[in-house]
Amino acid sequence: MKLGIFDSGAGGLSVLKSIIESRIFDSIIYYGDTARLPYGTKDPQSIINFSLEALDFFNSQKIDMLVVACNTASAHALKAMQSKSKIPIIGVIEPGIKALQNKITNQDARILILATKATIQSGQYQDRLKALGYKNLYAIAPSLFVPLVEENIFDGKILEEVMSFYFKPIDFIPDAIILGCTHFPLLANAISQYFQNKSILIHSGEAIVDFIKHKIPTQNTSTTTLKFFASSDVESLKKTARKWLDLPNYSFLKT
Ligand code: DGL
Repeated sequence: MKLGIFDSGAGGLSVLKSIIESRIFDSIIYYGDTARLPYGTKDPQSIINFSLEALDFFNSQKIDMLVVACNTASAHALKAMQSKSKIPIIGVIEPGIKALQNKITNQDARILILATKATIQSGQYQDRLKALGYKNLYAIAPSLFVPLVEENIFDGKILEEVMSFYFKPIDFIPDAIILGCTHFPLLANAISQYFQNKSILIHSGEAIVDFIKHKIPTQNTSTTTLKFFASSDVESLKKTARKWLDLPNYSFLKT
């Protein structure tokens, strides 16, 4: 099976990592729209237009399935992409919600949703959780987390300051935290520690692997071939991939 993974930039590598570890796909094409990152601050129509352009690229790659790793694109452009494609296209929001449902059965649980401005404004997480009966929802867009991760800042004073700034209104320990942005799993340890390691964290990458395993018959592959594409500076994307994925046995093909 050949899988495509789409993200606005390098953040989707957090989803790629979980998918590689699942050993479901023998070939993965990753495309990051690095020239136009961040999507999270853009208007919905631009997000749809960029995502449809990405779909055109994937159509030329003959993939069997596409994962939209970007929460912002999943929130705004998934339907438009699905309506223009013959292959299955999976976003990260539905798997994230399913993962939360599996872990949190108490509908009075306090759930903190962390995502980009555009994802929060779409109301996708909030509406779906409300429809499932969850009552205590808190949504925050910690926009500065994205550039911090891009700068490989995963802990330390700057991050602590930024977390205090955004989490000030949250004067309680959430029962669950949805990491509703590709970049946030890289800050999982810091976010968890901030809330005294007492919250359950929901990570899109892990959620999507469970979701795919339920959707299609899977078998283990021995190696995964990775191919990276980007709308700008693919070498920098590959460098980040080598660092974040830490998977020396996998082949990195030239783009
Ligand atoms: N990939 C985006 C997401 O998951 C975060 C970065 C961006 O704003 O483009 O929402």
